[in-house]
Amino acid sequence: MNTNEFIRRRKTLMRMVGNDGIAILPSAPARVRSRDVEYRYRQDSDFYYLSGFAEPESVIVLAPGRDNGEYIVFCRERDRRKEQWDGSRAGPGGVVDTYLADDAFPIDDIDDILPGILETRESVYYTMGAYAEFDQRMTEWVKSLRQRESSGVHAPHEFIALDHLLHDMRLYKSRAEISAMRTAAKIAVKAHRRAMATARPGLYEYEVEAEFAHEFRRHDACNSYAPIVGTGANTCILHYVENNAQLKDGDLLLIDAGCEFDYYASDVTRTFPVNGRFSPEQRAVYEIVLEAQLAAIEKTVQGNHWNDPHDAAVRVITKGLRKIGLLKGSLPKLIKDQAYSEFFMHRTGHWIGMDVHDVGDYKVGNEWRCLEPGMVTTIEPGIYIPASRKVPAKWRNIGVRIEDDVAVTNNGPDVLSKGLAKEADDIEKLMAA
Ligand code: GLY
Ligand code: MN
Ligand code: MN
Repeated sequence: MNTNEFIRRRKTLMRMVGNDGIAILPSAPARVRSRDVEYRYRQDSDFYYLSGFAEPESVIVLAPGRDNGEYIVFCRERDRRKEQWDGSRAGPGGVVDTYLADDAFPIDDIDDILPGILETRESVYYTMGAYAEFDQRMTEWVKSLRQRESSGVHAPHEFIALDHLLHDMRLYKSRAEISAMRTAAKIAVKAHRRAMATARPGLYEYEVEAEFAHEFRRHDACNSYAPIVGTGANTCILHYVENNAQLKDGDLLLIDAGCEFDYYASDVTRTFPVNGRFSPEQRAVYEIVLEAQLAAIEKTVQGNHWNDPHDAAVRVITKGLRKIGLLKGSLPKLIKDQAYSEFFMHRTGHWIGMDVHDVGDYKVGNEWRCLEPGMVTTIEPGIYIPASRKVPAKWRNIGVRIEDDVAVTNNGPDVLSKGLAKEADDIEKLMAA
């Protein structure tokens, strides 16, 4: 992401915070995988959104109008010995030079410096509850100021939820953000193609998952969530991640896998037959889900409400389930009673951006939010018929989801993950090739 993008974001936020306010954001803590081994570090999305700075043990502070600099960063000092083991650090000097902080200090000095900056402000914009340890430190800084109020020290009087402002900013993606998301989607599309070309009876789900690891990493991307690679009965488990069953002739394979590229996520699902040919029942269910997905995408246009795509998907799915005999009754009543939820138990989409389930409110007041250019949502209807449902045997263990990432634009829906087969015939052709 271009440096100007981060400057623009900080400026926008500072305008909202005002000269009486201060915004404070801690970096994400490193997380232990097991014993002394950590997960690969991933910066907190809000922190990265404003700074582009990916190091742990850092704090960014925005103090609009401050004479000695508005953008202050606390970070680890350079340390030749530690850098030899864990990689390079920017240090306060590097943060000023490369990340354009106005002022930067060693993180170990924060207790001495930050209260002095807080003292000059009325309102603190801060996301409470994200990191318990940092909440504690914040409380201590403010408490220390309050304890000295009788000697004339000023303590801020107002705490405001920073996420309320920041997450609304993050909901509207800029051109640069859409471009990163398009890249993340294209990489996912390539990986799904590899998976379709690779899958065949006898392989294991993890062998198909390996195609994603290969394609993601060769593009400097990583999983944006644990890939779901489920065959047969596993297609009906929404968050299946074991990925260790064998692919059988005649079964479906549902793959929900996306990547993160330059801090932006894709989230893509395709469902296809392991042997390359849909059975009549699989095809019937597949075509209902596809029709629902296309109907929902058509509704992903500015001016519509957030719920309109979901309503469109629900209608098509209920109608389809009725047509194949899995639901009985009048269409309006089945929709009103949410009879479809036995087979379609999740929403049609969610915001996507730096986080796969991205930030941003879905309702304003009590009303569904209007879709506006720059918003990006997944569109992912599904039908799941586990063996436990009381349905004729031929329908059991059919789970189908089709998911794409769709940006709202001035010119209608922009499917970022386009170009990946999803008509049943196209999938069969691709698998036969
Ligand atoms: N992959 C998670 C989801 O589709 O929401
Ligand atoms: Mn998904
Ligand atoms: Mn999704």
